[in-house]
Amino acid sequence: MAGGLRVFLSEQQIQQRIAEMGREISRDYPQGPLYMIAILKGAFIFLADLARAVETPTRIEFMGISSYGKGKTSSGEVKVTKDLDVSIEGHDVLIVEDIVDSGVTLTYLRHVLQQRRPKSIRIATLLDKPDRRLRPVEVSYVGFQIPDEFVVGYGLDYAEDYRNLKDICVLQENVPRP
Ligand code: PRP
Repeated sequence: MAGGLRVFLSEQQIQQRIAEMGREISRDYPQGPLYMIAILKGAFIFLADLARAVETPTRIEFMGISSYGKGKTSSGEVKVTKDLDVSIEGHDVLIVEDIVDSGVTLTYLRHVLQQRRPKSIRIATLLDKPDRRLRPVEVSYVGFQIPDEFVVGYGLDYAEDYRNLKDICVLQENVPRP
């Protein structure tokens, strides 16, 4: 483990929880195809593990969303930077996120996707920071609710570093934070 990091959720804890989430999602969607839409970049590792934990036939898609600056506000200033390559009309959609923080990204995204007339839309997130919420978001599948700590690893970054850590870690206080 690199210096300045404390393991917050171990690889084993993460994998165990994802297996449970996979079973729940498989039960809820006995028939496919389920369109799993991962939001880049942070969700890419979670998507890879969650998709393999789900037995429902799935189709995998990616979207890119950018927010204006790090100091996100409830104004909802986000935009699509990479759109879907396919239509989701009439299909079950599961948005896959690494973390829900203010809820601004998902509020916007759900609105955008809803206009494309899917059969249903639900959200799965590995991490949820409810203390930071500015916009209420209905999240159907939550891996872990966590306190307001800056976490990295398993897809989550600090200035683009640490995404490839197997564990989710807290940056220690002596490390500069965004
Ligand atoms: C993170 C995360 C969500 C969003 C959640 O992405 O992956 O998409 O922030 O925050 P919110 O609930 O406050 O909107 P980020 O902008 O860090 O981009 P990245 O996934 O490319 O690291």
